[in-house]
This record gives sequence, structure tokens and C-alpha cells, in this order.
Amino acid sequence: MQDINQAIHDYCEKLSFLPNAILPEIERATHLETLAPRMLSGHLQGAFLTMVSKMTAPKNILEIGTFTGYSAICLAEGLASGGELITIEYNPENAEIARRFFDQTPAKNKITLLEGDAKAIIPRLDKSFDLVFIDADKEGYAVYFDLVMEKCHSGSIILVDNVLWDGKVINNENPDKKTRIIQEFNLKIAGDNRVETTIVPLRDGIMLTRVL
Ligand SMILES: C[S@@+](CC[C@H](N)C(=O)[O-])C[C@H]1O[C@@H](n2cnc3c(N)ncnc32)[C@H](O)[C@@H]1O
Repeated sequence: MQDINQAIHDYCEKLSFLPNAILPEIERATHLETLAPRMLSGHLQGAFLTMVSKMTAPKNILEIGTFTGYSAICLAEGLASGGELITIEYNPENAEIARRFFDQTPAKNKITLLEGDAKAIIPRLDKSFDLVFIDADKEGYAVYFDLVMEKCHSGSIILVDNVLWDGKVINNENPDKKTRIIQEFNLKIAGDNRVETTIVPLRDGIMLTRVL
């Protein structure tokens, strides 16, 4: 029998809109040209990101972890007129693929890809962000969160990917190092009195946080 979670995921995906016609092409190229295509958000999560973006109509979006550009294009769909999305990627091969796809969409004028380590880049950004998507290395999550809090305002939304880590976060017996890092991160944000937070059990778990 097919995994019930996978079957539910497929059902929800089938009934979800496709935010941009270029997305299946990005997915195909990501499978052909990268070693870890699983990192890509995919159709269902992409529709969720676009929906949150459209509901908040942000002027400024920050994404940490561009990969091949899939989620950036989904988030950019909801930008307010004249708005900008800044996305940060430190792997030049991934950045090159993302640029190729950004150039093929009207969103290219709204997306700025900064190449380098997000920990060094974020403090230099001279903007206040309405919507942030944290989706880079898990070891850096707590640092990224505190850095982006400096660039947010009351009402900003911060999304964080992979907070359920394949369901391993509920293993308290003998969690591996990465699981422990994510468990500690989730506890830190749940107890952070600067924000309100919830976890949406979509795909690998998305934390949805609102700055107070
Ligand atoms: C999970 S993937 C992002 C997936 C993408 N957001 C999507 O949904 O399609 C994580 C990306 O973060 C990048 N990354 C990891 N650590 C980084 C850092 N310190 N600074 C910038 N990018 C980083 C990786 O090279 C990788 O491309």
C-alpha cells in the first residue's frame, strides 16, 4: 500500500494551482543538473508560498537559500507593485541555474540574487522585510532567524522550511545531530516572546511566524 502521507500529499498537490508555468521546467532541470533535487520546494509547497505571499502582498521579500530558483519565483508572484525579492545563494552552480530561469520570467526585474554566505550578507542589507523565507543549511537556522529579526518589523512574516525533518523531530530517544539542531531551533522560536509561531505539517514542515 502506498504511504498514506505521500498519497495525501499527492492529492493536495493535484488540487493546487501552479503559481507559474516555468516551474515544471525548473523541476526538470533541477533533477538533471543537481545532485540533491529533493531540496526543491515543489508544486504543493510552491503553491503555499505563493498563497502566503499574495495574502501579505509584501513590498520586500528576503529568501535565504535560492537553490535553482523555484521558491523565489513562487514568492515573487505575490510581490506588491514595485516590490523586490532578494534571494541569497552561496553555491555558484545553483546560482547560475536560478539566474537562467529568472531571466526567462517577467519576475526577473523584481528578483535580485546575491551570491555569497547569507550570514555575511544579511547584516549588510539596508531594508526592512515584510516576508522572509529561511531555507538554507539547518545548522545556521538560529543565526539566520536572529539576523533577519533585525531586518523585520511588527507584522513581518518569517517562514522556515524543513522544521519537521522527515518526522525525526519527535524522536527524543537518540536524535542525530541535525535533528537535535532543528529540535532546539523549534523550541527556541516557540519560546521567543518577540514572535507568534505555528508549524504547518506541509511536506517537510513549514514554520509560520509573525513578528509582534
Ligand atoms: C534547501 S535548498 C533551497 C531550496 C529552495 N529554497 C527551493 O525551495 O527551491 C538550500 C540552499 O541553500 C544554500 N545555502 C546553504 N548554506 C548557505 C549559506 N550559508 N548562504 C547562502 N546559501 C546557502 C545551498 O547551497 C542550497 O542551494
